[in-house]
Amino acid sequence: MSKKYSKEAAARFWSKRLKSTDPLAAVLTYNAPKILNEIYDKWEKESLKMALSHSLAGKKALDIGCGTGRISLALAKLGADVTCADLSAAMLKHLKLEARKRKVVSRIITINSSADKLPLDDNSFDIVTCFGLLEHLPPPVRRKTMIEAFRVLKPKGKMLAVVNNSRSVFLKNSYTMKEQQRNGYFVSLVGLKWLEKICEKQRMKVKVLAANPNYAAMYYMLSNSAGSISTKSQRGIREILRQSLKKDLGAASTSKFSSILASHFLVELRKAN
Ligand SMILES: C[S@@+](CC[C@H](N)C(=O)[O-])C[C@H]1O[C@@H](n2cnc3c(N)ncnc32)[C@H](O)[C@@H]1O
Repeated sequence: MSKKYSKEAAARFWSKRLKSTDPLAAVLTYNAPKILNEIYDKWEKESLKMALSHSLAGKKALDIGCGTGRISLALAKLGADVTCADLSAAMLKHLKLEARKRKVVSRIITINSSADKLPLDDNSFDIVTCFGLLEHLPPPVRRKTMIEAFRVLKPKGKMLAVVNNSRSVFLKNSYTMKEQQRNGYFVSLVGLKWLEKICEKQRMKVKVLAANPNYAAMYYMLSNSAGSISTKSQRGIREILRQSLKKDLGAASTSKFSSILASHFLVELRKAN
């Protein structure tokens, strides 16, 4: 990175982005047709539920780069006490309002903090989640963020993160920013290899739990044409996407099909004994 990363500029970028679009597009794909973001949101939430036990009552969770609280609120619904950390005050305000609406506000604490320097104790969380954040951090900040996440995770706790599939035929030529843009935005592909390397150094075990090859294939076919799809065919498309989601949730995450076509992996990280 030749230019210094500005947390203030990143915070301004994300707060502005939330004001400029619907809450799902603000934290998922900005220009995607709504239906694609809705199905992706379901894949992450359903995969998250499959990775956790049914009740998280009495458990302490931390959601890093929580945004509007898609994942934080799902954890709170399962019974966890959730600390939600984000740089953007606007995101946290939105999250608190949603928590009130969904009657889980008593289980939510928000902290306006950068992911690479969390004002939290060592070994204090049973679950740490990090969805949709890592690719928005330049490598040095990303590395520090992972080390912070491992620091606050209890010895028997688990971290769940979503990373990109850098071998995906669809993602190959995307996400290539070398430095943060003037407007505060940064994005760059974060693959399994990068994660495995840092986990090895930090003595963490990595396991791929879920992948989305069927959805990703549909996404890349539809995202170029969705603007011109008639209302009638949109119903059919919704059904195809639902079926893709079902297939992804029931399929092996480490198949060859997944390794070439999936755009995202849900991974579990645990401290090695
Ligand atoms: C793509 S959104 C994902 C939000 C949420 N995790 C989700 O999946 O819905 C990225 C979030 O990371 C936050 N963020 C960006 N840089 C950050 C940093 N250095 N520290 C903490 N949060 C950050 C943004 O404010 C934004 O809310």
